[in-house]
Parts: sequence; C-alpha cells; structure tokens
Amino acid sequence: MLHAVKVKPDVYWVGGIDWNERNFHGYTTDRGSTYNAYLIMDEHPTLIDTCKPGFAGELIERIGEVVDPARIEYVVANHVEQDHSGAIPAICELAPNARIVTSDPYGASGLAAHYGERDYLPVKTGDTLCIGKRTLTFTQTLMVHWPDNMVTYSDVDRILFSNDAFGQHFASSHHFDDEVGLPEVLAQAKKYYANIVMPYSRHVVRALGALEGLDIDMVAPSHGVIWRSHVGEIMETYCRWSSLAPDEYAIVVYDSMWHTTEDMAREIVEAFIERDVPTRLFDLKVDHISDIMTEVLSAKYVAVGSPTLNNGMMPTVAAFLCYLKGLSPKTGWEGRVGIPFGSYGWGTNGPDEVAAVLEACGFDLPLGALSHQWVEDEEHLAQLQTAVAGVVGR
Ligand code: FEO
Repeated sequence: MLHAVKVKPDVYWVGGIDWNERNFHGYTTDRGSTYNAYLIMDEHPTLIDTCKPGFAGELIERIGEVVDPARIEYVVANHVEQDHSGAIPAICELAPNARIVTSDPYGASGLAAHYGERDYLPVKTGDTLCIGKRTLTFTQTLMVHWPDNMVTYSDVDRILFSNDAFGQHFASSHHFDDEVGLPEVLAQAKKYYANIVMPYSRHVVRALGALEGLDIDMVAPSHGVIWRSHVGEIMETYCRWSSLAPDEYAIVVYDSMWHTTEDMAREIVEAFIERDVPTRLFDLKVDHISDIMTEVLSAKYVAVGSPTLNNGMMPTVAAFLCYLKGLSPKTGWEGRVGIPFGSYGWGTNGPDEVAAVLEACGFDLPLGALSHQWVEDEEHLAQLQTAVAGVVGR
C-alpha cells in the first residue's frame, strides 16, 4: 500500500518516488527524484500537479487513500513538462469532469499539444480560485524554467506550491527539509538550480519579486522534500544564486592525452591556491559535467583545458562546453574570468576552440588562450603560474 502523507490539515502529498532515476536529461541524479503532487481536501477537492506517466498508478493509489479520485474537481497544472503533467490523462479518465487549471496562454496551448483540446481553465498572475474555505492564487513565473510555469498559493495553509522552483532531485522516505538536514537539501537544491534554473536567473529575480508579500509558511516543490523549517534560508539562497554574483573561487576542468594539459591544469590550480583562492580540479574522464556545473554557479574563475586532438578539442571537453553554453545566462556573467588552455603538436585548434566557447558563454578572457606545444617544462609552467596569478582579484 502506498501511503499519502499529510503535510497540513487536509493537505496531502500524493506524488511518486522515482528511486532509480539516475539521469534526468543529462543531469546525474544520484539520489533519484520525486514527482510531487498534492491533494487539497476542501469543498472542491483539488489536485496540485500530477507526475510522470509511469507513476500514475502510485499517484492514484495514494489519492485513493484519501478520497475517491472521481471526486476531484480541479487539477492545477503548474507546468506542462511531462514529469508533472504526464498523469493528467489518467486522472481525467477517473474524474472526467475535473477542470484543468493552467497558465494563460502557454499552459493551455502546451497541454493541448500534449493531451488534446479540452475545457482548460486558463489563469494569469493574480487570478484566484475559491475551492471552499480556501482561495488559491496563481502567479505566473515565466521562464522559470519554461514559458508556461506558474506557482499556486493556498491562503489558509500558507503553502506555496512552487513546482520546479526550490526543487531538488532527491528521493527519500522523508518528506520535509528538517528530516533530511539543511546541508544535504541545500546541496541538492544547488545542483538543481545550476543544472536547470541558472540560465533563467533574471526571470527568477522577477519571480521572487512577484512573490514578495505572500505570507509563506511552507514551500512545496514538485521535486524533493518540502521546505517547512528553512523557508527563509531557501528564499535567501535563491536570491543569492539568481544574482549570479560569484564567490572568489576557482575551478579547473580538463582532459588530457599525454599529460601536458594535465600538467598545465595542476599548475593553474597551484597558482590559485598560492593566492588563497579556494580551488577544485575536475578531470572530465572521471567527473560528470552536471557535477561540475554545480560548481560553475559560484565560481568566479573557470579554467578549461583541452589539447588538440585531430583537428579540434577533445570530445569530452566539447561535451562539457556544449552543456555549459546551454546553461549560460544571457547576461550576468560579466566579470567572470575564463581561462582556456591546452597543449598541441602542430595546431592550436583545441585550446582555441575552448576559448571561442568560453567567450560565447560570456566569460572575460584576459589571458586569451594559453597554448603550449608538445611537453611542459619548468620555465613555461612558472610563466603559466605567473600569468594566472595576475588575474586573481581583477
Ligand atoms: Fe520538473 Fe520542468 O519539470
């Protein structure tokens, strides 16, 4: 029997737990994920979001513990992406008269494209829906992280149903932040922000502004655990992340063929450590690009190295830079320092290609591409360290 979990009087978590999810569109989810849906038992029973199609059975079983699913009158679809809307057809089969509440216009058009036309109830920011003693208020959160996203606030419960915002890909038998512990939940939330939300940071700033003034006691996202004891901390942390202000922190990312680019990478690490800049080294042969992205969120200095392989950069480096480019915010990285580097035999295409992508991502490249032919020597490594030291604190 799969149990519903009471999160407030007459409000239940009824979602699905995806223990075995390990790769969410290229993002490694080492702790799995959850697809949270919430059932509000008021005069007009209302379901907030659903889950992936494969978890419809779990969802329906949990709902059935509380109420006959046929009695659901509203389904609020805060977001069209299928990890939240995928069980709408299954719910509609059981509750054919339920109205689907969704954002106007992108939620309605997106749901129609996925599941066909029906009598959707489109809402805009500030629109309300009375479901009995509760009133739900909707706020569109455009591009956090799709055009259709919105959040739903329940006044009696003081719950913000935030969908993807404030979420974490994290499967657990616990349902609340204080049961898991703040450091673990924040670490998962940071990875989620860096790998999903970061490019839309300026929209996050706007969304946080729109939520100011709401009396929020609980933030119930659609992934991971519910924020009930650390609402202030996650709101404050989202403000900091969305500002894109980096820390005085360096990451050095590389792949190497015959260790010359690796020697350069280690020398760059030393240069930062010598200047008291916290630094991490990532070898793309062993580190996953989504874990590196988590560190990019707060790194002022991002050094990326590739030797020239055949006629360009190494495929591992290209994959990382492709991912980085997709997650780069259009603005807001001004002042972040990119350091492209790498070795070559007879053509500098590898490090040059790294430089081109870092520049396209919005990094400043004060040193240009740092290339070195064939193998390293002490004199060049010393020059490299001096050059890198020169950009610290600029
Ligand atoms: Fe969790 Fe954008 O879906």
